[in-house]
Amino acid sequence: MSIQKVRAVANANVALVKYFGKRNIPLNLPAAPSLSLTLKPLQTTTTLAFSEHKSDEIFLGSTPADEKFSARISKFLNLFREQSGVLQAVRVSTENNFPTAAGLASSASGFAALTMGATKLFNLSLSEPELSALARRGSGSASRSICGGIVKWQKGENADGTDSFAHSIAPPEHWDLRILVGVTTQSPKEIGSTEAMERTRITSAYYSPWIDSTHIAVAEAMSAVKTKDFEKLGDITEHSALSMHAALMGARPPIVFLKGATLDVFHFSRALRKEGIGAYFTCDAGPQPKILCQGNDASVIEKRLLHFPGIQKVIHCSLAHGASVS
Ligand code: PMV
Repeated sequence: MSIQKVRAVANANVALVKYFGKRNIPLNLPAAPSLSLTLKPLQTTTTLAFSEHKSDEIFLGSTPADEKFSARISKFLNLFREQSGVLQAVRVSTENNFPTAAGLASSASGFAALTMGATKLFNLSLSEPELSALARRGSGSASRSICGGIVKWQKGENADGTDSFAHSIAPPEHWDLRILVGVTTQSPKEIGSTEAMERTRITSAYYSPWIDSTHIAVAEAMSAVKTKDFEKLGDITEHSALSMHAALMGARPPIVFLKGATLDVFHFSRALRKEGIGAYFTCDAGPQPKILCQGNDASVIEKRLLHFPGIQKVIHCSLAHGASVS
């Protein structure tokens, strides 16, 4: 029976130990492992169906996507056409329930949902590691959004990337971790992550120490997750984010994603800790500050962050299950 239409959903993820640097660009192979939380409610919903048109039709909701975005999706769909031998065009409609391309990892949930949907549409039978490795081809961090809870993306050693995939190290039920995203702007980021990673790799004196420290940080974070040592995990999280941004700022020309309001939230997290409230700062390739905390402290921190200067709104996230398709 041929499938008419599929609908896939995937959640975004925020890395506590960041991925920032590639050992292979076309395959999106990372220079180091990373560790993340898969988060609700940040979600992408993607529907796919075969099309009678000559080329793929890509929509953001009901609006046709621009050429650059469409070309990136079509190139990714070619991986499924190659594997299945089915050369038909596809109609894709994708929608996020959060701001696109503003450092909220929309490419992660987007490519994870697309991977789940296209795998079903093209009638491929793939294991979770295979799905993760395939999602990685669309966007590195998408490899992690296939899996639920607390997730490790292993660097892998193989040149073809077959062993560079993510897996869940703890389900959502293991630990009531939260991420509070402070939205400072809804505008798209100024530089794409691949370009920023390459400039940092080539020109920043801090790149190599950054990669070395990430290997250690992932191992330590894994043990903090196992023993639920929140202070240890928080400390590793803050150090990873700040080290990544230090490496970025050391690039030529420098890359500065952090805005005034972003840094103010970092100091706010420290001040909260002095009050005995467990809050740790992180930030990705954009200006949105994020606070890592546990369920028991989350609503107090959320209220205070909401009234913080420069914060437009707060998205309160908790651990989610992995991507799915129907
Ligand atoms: O998946 P990409 O290529 O958008 O890279 C994401 C990189 C960071 O978000 C900055 C860090 C991470 O590990 O998610």
